Amino acid sequence: MCGIVGYIGQRNATGVIISGLKRLEYRGYDSAGLALYSSRRQALVRVRAVGKIAGLVSRIETDLPDHADPDYTLGVGHTRWATHGAPTEANAHPHLSRNGEFAVVHNGIIENYAALKERLIRKGYIFTSETDTEVLAHLVEECYEGDLHCAVAAALEQVEGTYGIAVVGSRHQGLIIAARKGSPIAIGAGQSEAIVASDISAIIGYTKQVVFLNDEDIATITAETLDIASLKNVPVSRALTHIDSNLDQIEKGGFEHFMLKEIHEQPQALANAIRGRLLEKDGTTRLGGMQMTSAEIARISHISIAACGTSYYAGMVGKYLFEDLAGLPTDIEQAAEFRYRNPIIEPDTLMLAISQSGETADTIAAVREALRKGATVLGICNVVGSTIARDTGRGVYLHAGPEIGVASTKAFTAQVAVLAMLAIIFGRARRLSGSKGRELVRELTRAPAIVAAMLEEEGAIKVIAEKYARSEHMFYLGRGYMYPAALEGALKLKEISYIHAEGYHAAELKHGPIALLDEHVPVVVAVPDLPGKSKTISNMQECRARGSSVIAIATSGDDEAISSCNDVIRVPRCLEFLAPIPVVIAEQLLAYHIARFRGCPIDQPRNLAKSVTVE
Ligand code: F6R
Repeated sequence: MCGIVGYIGQRNATGVIISGLKRLEYRGYDSAGLALYSSRRQALVRVRAVGKIAGLVSRIETDLPDHADPDYTLGVGHTRWATHGAPTEANAHPHLSRNGEFAVVHNGIIENYAALKERLIRKGYIFTSETDTEVLAHLVEECYEGDLHCAVAAALEQVEGTYGIAVVGSRHQGLIIAARKGSPIAIGAGQSEAIVASDISAIIGYTKQVVFLNDEDIATITAETLDIASLKNVPVSRALTHIDSNLDQIEKGGFEHFMLKEIHEQPQALANAIRGRLLEKDGTTRLGGMQMTSAEIARISHISIAACGTSYYAGMVGKYLFEDLAGLPTDIEQAAEFRYRNPIIEPDTLMLAISQSGETADTIAAVREALRKGATVLGICNVVGSTIARDTGRGVYLHAGPEIGVASTKAFTAQVAVLAMLAIIFGRARRLSGSKGRELVRELTRAPAIVAAMLEEEGAIKVIAEKYARSEHMFYLGRGYMYPAALEGALKLKEISYIHAEGYHAAELKHGPIALLDEHVPVVVAVPDLPGKSKTISNMQECRARGSSVIAIATSGDDEAISSCNDVIRVPRCLEFLAPIPVVIAEQLLAYHIARFRGCPIDQPRNLAKSVTVE
């Protein structure tokens, strides 16, 4: 996710900003840049580079040989994780105003940027990037009448969406303006210096005294002073916080592992995945990146999904969604099989390639094979500008934020949300009524809250995890939408705890694998209060009759499955089409805590890589 660092003080700003940006590397990014005030040139100088901070440092060494001069004492820097526009140098921050006098770094999303951009272009502003942020730089120039604070406030008044920003101006060599709405900004107040950052890990090497901005605060920061006001310019006071934590604790947000942090980020990841995409009044959703007209959407008569691992299981949920909500026949195939099987692609087939990283070799090859056969291919990726996103040229981003833990968690739930939004679009073009569409869209609006309620069950899940942590084999069962959820639960457990786990359709168990059950093999059964529940309860009894302990994942308040299980994990009630989301989160937490009790290296399991770029 994007990171901001700004410095004003007595030290060389280049060094402080670069070391701050390095501290933010753990958040994931794809390009970086900085803008410094040069007193020799009496202007802002900017250097940006695609890729790692090391690349930015070499660019600075060549393009700005005097970068270590002591008179560089003011600047802002940024690590960008692409959202609007690919990770290119032109899209990297800082963005400059048309006259080059103002530099802006920004985290968040300006939702009305397209309208603002159109208006600014009509007024003669020239845009050099595809980002939403660049409108802010031009707006500051447009609003500037000699006071940088007022110009930034007036610019922000026009903006809808979220922001954490830092702005510098070449006529204000002693000043940084910072502001926040929905995206964090902290200000470290040192001795005759201040550091502004989106994350305190960039600050605490210099000072432990930090002020956090609230939403709609604007801070006027000099080396000696800090004044905070509301957007309406009413002064406000914010407490100074003393930070005790160490850097490792901060990078993981206080969690022991990235995986746990990412599990807990799911309310926010889902909120980001659905933001601006739900049209409740029309009972549908809007996914601009599809680039398909209504007529093209209505012409699609078959969907083919290719993906690997967790993304494949999300794709399996997609099959249920497209068939249930849109009546569209849907095939799902492991990408490695798709690429070599000579798949049948008809002119009215839409292919979906699902990949968190967008770099999985088998999925890339499947996309290329489908494109060769003339298919329309949509990429459903998390990483903006990744190979699959570029190859397909159209698709839907998850906006789940960087996933660092090797085991995929928040990407899965965001993938299901995106597939649900797609299925609603195709459904509304076919057989889904307006009132049903509205009901589904309303439920999607609730998704972040459903997930937040699910996370509250963590304490109870931990107790169950401890009880079963010494198992050597486990089964996961489910039917309907819970079938892919069972497969994903087993995958999560085996990859991080090294327990041998198998996911099965609840009814399929008795066609063979039931022979493996005994008192040493616990069975996790996804049995929320949905169609098929009573049949799954019968399957639970079959397991108990073979001596297995059964852990039921059941809806809060529904006690029907209780007498057939040994332990129960509660999930919040929700409509069937979203039910895999809380159930899989329950399984993520169970796998995590079992692996933790077993002392496994959760963020880097043996033999696994985050992105599988080989066949
Ligand atoms: C499991 C996991 C993997 C990935 C798979 C595909 O937790 O992370 O199974 O889901 O390697 O990766 P992407 O989605 O990046 O194509």
